[in-house]
Amino acid sequence: MACLACLLALAFVAAEAQQMQSNISQGSSLTTTNSTWLSRSGLYAFGFYRQGDGYAVGIFLAGIPQKTVVWTANRDDPPVSNNATLLFTGDGLALPTAEGQNYLVKSSGSASYASMLNSGNFVLYNSGREIVWQSFDHPTDTLLPGQRLLSGNELFSAKSEADHSTGIFRLKMQNDGNLVQYPVDTPDTSVYAFYSSLTVGQGENVTLNFGADGHLYLLNRNGTNIRNITDGGLPTDEGKLYLMRIDVGGIFRLYSHDLKKNAIWSVEWESSKDKCVPKGLCGLNSYCVLIDLEPDCKCLPRFKSVNQGNQTFGCERNFVADACINRNENFTYTMEELESTWEDDSYMSLRLSDKDDCIQGCLEDCDCEAVFFDGTNCRKQRLPLRFGRRDKGTSERAFIKVGVPTKPDTDPRIVQPGSKKKAHKWIWIGTAIGAALLVMVLCISSYLLRRKLFSGETNPMSENEMLEWMESDRSTGDVKGLQNDGKMGNNLTIFSYASVVAATTNFSEENKLGQGGFGPVYKGKLVTGREIAVKRLSRCSGQGTSEFKNELILISELQHTNLVHLFGFCIHGEERMLIYAYMPNKSLDYFLFDSTRAMLLDWTKRFNIIEGIAQGLLYLHKYSRMRVIHRDLKASNILLDEYMKPKISDFGLARIFTHNELEANTNRIVGTYGYMSPEYAMEGIFSIKSDVYSFGVLVLEIISGRRNSSFYIADHVLNIVGYAWELWKEGRGLELMDPTLKDSCTEDQLLRCFQVGLLCVEENAADRPSMSDVVSMLTTETISLPLPTRPAFITIRNVIVSDISISRRELQIISVNGLSNTTVAGR
Ligand SMILES: *[C@@H]1O[C@H](CO)[C@@H](O)[C@H](O)[C@H]1NC(C)=O
Ligand SMILES: *[C@@H]1O[C@H](CO)[C@@H](O)[C@H](O)[C@H]1NC(C)=O
Ligand SMILES: *[C@@H]1O[C@H](CO)[C@@H](O)[C@H](O)[C@H]1NC(C)=O
Ligand SMILES: *[C@@H]1O[C@H](CO)[C@@H](O)[C@H](O)[C@H]1NC(C)=O
Ligand SMILES: *[C@@H]1O[C@H](CO)[C@@H](O)[C@H](O)[C@H]1NC(C)=O
Ligand SMILES: *[C@@H]1O[C@H](CO)[C@@H](O)[C@H](O)[C@H]1NC(C)=O
Ligand SMILES: *[C@@H]1O[C@H](CO)[C@@H](O)[C@H](O)[C@H]1NC(C)=O
Ligand SMILES: *[C@@H]1O[C@H](CO)[C@@H](O)[C@H](O)[C@H]1NC(C)=O
Repeated sequence: MACLACLLALAFVAAEAQQMQSNISQGSSLTTTNSTWLSRSGLYAFGFYRQGDGYAVGIFLAGIPQKTVVWTANRDDPPVSNNATLLFTGDGLALPTAEGQNYLVKSSGSASYASMLNSGNFVLYNSGREIVWQSFDHPTDTLLPGQRLLSGNELFSAKSEADHSTGIFRLKMQNDGNLVQYPVDTPDTSVYAFYSSLTVGQGENVTLNFGADGHLYLLNRNGTNIRNITDGGLPTDEGKLYLMRIDVGGIFRLYSHDLKKNAIWSVEWESSKDKCVPKGLCGLNSYCVLIDLEPDCKCLPRFKSVNQGNQTFGCERNFVADACINRNENFTYTMEELESTWEDDSYMSLRLSDKDDCIQGCLEDCDCEAVFFDGTNCRKQRLPLRFGRRDKGTSERAFIKVGVPTKPDTDPRIVQPGSKKKAHKWIWIGTAIGAALLVMVLCISSYLLRRKLFSGETNPMSENEMLEWMESDRSTGDVKGLQNDGKMGNNLTIFSYASVVAATTNFSEENKLGQGGFGPVYKGKLVTGREIAVKRLSRCSGQGTSEFKNELILISELQHTNLVHLFGFCIHGEERMLIYAYMPNKSLDYFLFDSTRAMLLDWTKRFNIIEGIAQGLLYLHKYSRMRVIHRDLKASNILLDEYMKPKISDFGLARIFTHNELEANTNRIVGTYGYMSPEYAMEGIFSIKSDVYSFGVLVLEIISGRRNSSFYIADHVLNIVGYAWELWKEGRGLELMDPTLKDSCTEDQLLRCFQVGLLCVEENAADRPSMSDVVSMLTTETISLPLPTRPAFITIRNVIVSDISISRRELQIISVNGLSNTTVAGR
């Protein structure tokens, strides 16, 4: 009782000059000076409280020193002026304005009196003592004991401790039974969620309930407790207050307050101890970092705040997006690693196990601003990045593309010794100058390196060449991305003939790597030490110079980890050369068809090669900006890098050669016998499914380690497709396997590849899978594969080619394994 007395005393202090009121009749009014209606206990008050430079109307704890607002009427309305009056009418509570009544509370029936209850609930009754409105049904950011959050309703955090208008987080009691936290203005989907009660699927009408002992729990529609959020069991004596609130920072907490001790609110429970968990705490392109347990937002590397002092605006970067496309001289691009997690909003996901490939893939892709890499998948992202937070525990790596200023004076971070104030201690001056010098040396050397990379290799063109170059451009005026300094858009470098001659020691025989479908290939070494492969194109493309250059720009945009990287080109008179990255491990045929070297390709490597080729082709067919049909896929066009990772080469060359024949039908058939689909070889019809056919042949070659033309049965030559089909039909699939794979192969996986290979070579192009089907069939073991039907294969006798019935058209086989440059004329 003693304590009740002190309570009342407290209440009287708080009520000050105001009348104690628990029964407010219709017609009553409040002004900002006699500002509230109190509950009987004096703890809760309904009325005006100070907000900004005016007042808001709401419910707050008046009985404690820390006036705590638990509810606000029309929380997003601007504050009202200090001459405002609140009127209790039959329709609810209104602020009279010049335009009429501005209703803050609208009752569902005629209200005759109101009461501020001791529970903190403000209630309007009709004359029959029925509730026509109550604040407990319209929660803002707080729940009080006895209050429920009904299915479909949400709590919204406040903007700040002082501003109770709607902030940036919400807690929703969903219709599916789950209690979930999201940022505001996001759909109710799990990608945005940052807290969940894990009660999804508990059905409609689940409610969040708040017991007097601090117990927060969920009841289903039958009133069964389905989840305890807090344990409850806290003291319930008179002096204890509890409230649950979704705080400004997005975390929802259960607070207690001890009146007897005149204490402050203390946290009994919280949805997360890590204040960086709420998604959206930091604006776009910034991420949350905990400093002494308090969250702080940091910009992505080399980004800067859009608005200092308001972190929700996020950050922007120091270079413009198209700088990558239109080579900006002032920056070079690198990828910086950030221990962080972000919303995954990838526009492309690649299966890659090598971090550096993932990084390189992003650097080479102008759309790519960041990649997330988890060891098996490389997910390319565009800006803006959202919901970032530092996370040291994650196995995922985020790499952000950053523009590094190339010139010292454009780098804001450089210390300028001259402009620095005189330091008192020499050691500081020494350190500052040392650091500045170091930064300058680094910048200058990176600048020089850049100059070397982009100009040194590109020994200036002779005046004649330059003139010819400019001339050809002016005449057509359609070469995109060309700059008059020997560089073109998209990293393409124009190599001078002299530098190519020097690199390949005048195309010497010992530098010749081989004869590709479109001409001989030479190894070269630039003065910078970089190794290149030079492909001298056969002089039959029939293209004009500028058409050729346009094509190359398109081709240089094809960038994928399983495609060989085109550095640039060289034009010398009639001659055209393409300059590629040099692949130390030559090509697939070099290993596959040599009994000793084949042993270096165990099954895992071969499977990775198959998958890599499939990914590269999928990119060409589906994800590249222009759809590319390779048309000459074969083992010698699959180059291998130092990790035996496959790189498809010669893609896009078919395009250069027959630019205006890219329709479904062609008169000149470019390709390699044995890899050509029947509809292509016979009728010149090609489509992406012709590449699928070639891929199927390649898969069978990789499994068997044998060339497609090396099958002799009795007196006739049977190609690999026919041979494989015979084995498959008889259930002897494993006999196709290269004997060197005996110890390393996974039989199931090998047979799976075999079956995919057979599906790819089906007679009817429409029945063959697409490359995206192929990729999923290869990588998802749970997908059951269709049964292959009799494939298309051509059995030919002794004289190769003559059996192929070619009607009308001329078949030009650019290269045949073992026989090259065969031209066959039709009847
Ligand atoms: C409040 O007022 C109404 C009518 O004005 C009356 O019927 C009711 O008994 C009063 N309630 C209390 C608790 O005084
Ligand atoms: C507040 O003041 C107004 C006008 O002065 C008066 O009508 C009203 O009854 C007062 N209310 C209280 C609770 O004293
Ligand atoms: C309150 O004061 C403002 C000026 O401060 C005035 O414009 C407004 O009309 C006043 N409202 C009422 C209801 O008197
Ligand atoms: C949920 O509550 C609403 C309103 O009381 C009711 O109409 C509906 O039938 C309830 N749903 C279930 C599945 O009980
Ligand atoms: C609620 O009770 C009804 C019948 O009593 C039962 O059919 C239903 O499954 C129960 N629902 C839940 C969510 O427990
Ligand atoms: C919640 O806690 C109460 C005790 O406070 C217990 O009886 C009940 O079984 C718990 N409910 C669940 C779903 O764990
Ligand atoms: C920050 O900016 C947001 C968006 O404009 C605004 O809603 C918010 O009130 C600002 N916060 C502060 C503390 O100024
Ligand atoms: C590079 O910087 C210089 C001066 O700092 C500026 O004039 C020029 O436009 C910039 N180049 C590009 C491509 O932005």
